[in-house]
Amino acid sequence: MIDLQLTDKKHDEARQGEALVTAAPLVRNGRKLYIESYGCQMNFADSEIVASILLDQGFETTGDYKEADVVFINTCSIRENAEQRVRNRLSQFGAEKRRNPKLIVGVLGCMAERLKSKFLEEEKLVDVVVGPDAYRELPQLLNEVESGHKAINVLLSREETYADISPVRLNGNGITAFISIMRGCDNMCSFCVVPFTRGRERSRDPHSILAEAQDLFDRGYKEVTLLGQNVDSYKWKGAATDENREAQEIEVNFAQLLEKVALISPELRVRFSTSHPKDITDEVLYTIAKYENICNYIHLPVQSGSTRVLELMNRTYTREWYINRIDAIRQIIPDCAISSDIIAGFCTETEEEHQETLSIMDYVGYDFAFTFSYSERPGTLAARKLEDDVPEEVKKRRLAEILAKQQETSLFRLQQFVGKTVKILVEGTSKKSDRDFCGRNDQNAMVVFPATAGIKAGQYVNVHIDRCTSATLLGTVVVQEEAAV
Ligand code: SAH
Ligand code: SF4
Ligand code: F3S
Repeated sequence: MIDLQLTDKKHDEARQGEALVTAAPLVRNGRKLYIESYGCQMNFADSEIVASILLDQGFETTGDYKEADVVFINTCSIRENAEQRVRNRLSQFGAEKRRNPKLIVGVLGCMAERLKSKFLEEEKLVDVVVGPDAYRELPQLLNEVESGHKAINVLLSREETYADISPVRLNGNGITAFISIMRGCDNMCSFCVVPFTRGRERSRDPHSILAEAQDLFDRGYKEVTLLGQNVDSYKWKGAATDENREAQEIEVNFAQLLEKVALISPELRVRFSTSHPKDITDEVLYTIAKYENICNYIHLPVQSGSTRVLELMNRTYTREWYINRIDAIRQIIPDCAISSDIIAGFCTETEEEHQETLSIMDYVGYDFAFTFSYSERPGTLAARKLEDDVPEEVKKRRLAEILAKQQETSLFRLQQFVGKTVKILVEGTSKKSDRDFCGRNDQNAMVVFPATAGIKAGQYVNVHIDRCTSATLLGTVVVQEEAAV
């Protein structure tokens, strides 16, 4: 693994389109790669795998596409506007290609998988199209392009997990990192394109996950986030040798994996995303409660508060089931932060059903929520079977109501920390000012405080919270011993 630049870009939206840059590889071939990523954290994690594969071929990365030999754009298909963003960006790369005809332009990720060879027909400037399970083939595909052909590989795999590839940690802060523990999704939520773009669900060998987490910790990282579309269905079955060196079949579920990662060191914080309401078990909750270094924060997307809509969405749980899971979290981990994803205006959603979404938000009191207006995706179950019949302006209005409620609740949640002392992991200087540090508490709230002599990134410090905005806690470092929450 190779070292990185310091930034503190964390938030999804802030990272869209971020270019990834790393230190030069030991053996260079003079060629430069520019790679830009869109979509979820898994796409960003994949770009680190891609960079690792090309760095092995002697490439260097660059943050300026105008000086690159190869430009990759790692794409997202989740909503129409995500795809539109990529199309706009491609037209900028097109202008560059007219200036420098030797430039190779590649489309990776979910849009590549969804559109396949159509991409080569629709976007003439694109030379290579590669789906999320075919990144090992990149060196060969680039050779094909160099010999004058367009190249494409969008085969999905039932096995590929890139378990043996050490991702280069790009643009990281050297303190927090993501680890993919599984790929794909078998859930078939009717609105969602992911099962089509990422293929079947498969879990990664726990030994390679633990080795990656241990390696990060040994290099000074203090927090890992375990990533999967549905981490609660993580299941690995395979051979292991016991103390007597006898081979045996072992099975590892998510709670057990979480525990193994937490046991690496009490100094290593563990986070994970995304949990699925139908699969999250009490065993997982008890494991979180048992280990102080497993953060008390669960992203548990509800999507809708109406049982009828949830059924149409094929989420396979009811409103009551979801509420029962929330009650279990509150009982087992009393100070757990909970966040959500919510879709406004899904097919046939009525006004009453929209009210049910608002009322479940009241019930839970989410610390944070990602909110979306429904966007029909070609090929999904909903696109084939249901009518996208909620008018655009109604979707917009419902989304605005959801957003307004969430802003109020987020502020209320953050206000609960004011006057208290919280333990945070210092991630670096704040985005807004060099004179401030930032870091997150156990519940994933961002805390900003004036830089104090002797404190540096990677340290845990207690911060007294003096006030808050709707997104950030503001405080001062506590020098004397004071209990943190
Ligand atoms: N695996 C995660 C989420 C993956 S996609 C889960 O199951 O929760 C992230 C979020 O995008 C989803 O939770 C959903 O809220 C939203 N989303 C997915 N498809 C969408 C669509 N067609 N229109 C609007 N929002 C969508
Ligand atoms: Fe999409 Fe549902 Fe899978 Fe999440 S669980 S990725 S929403 S199909
Ligand atoms: Fe987007 Fe693909 Fe992630 S569709 S949200 S990049 S899995």
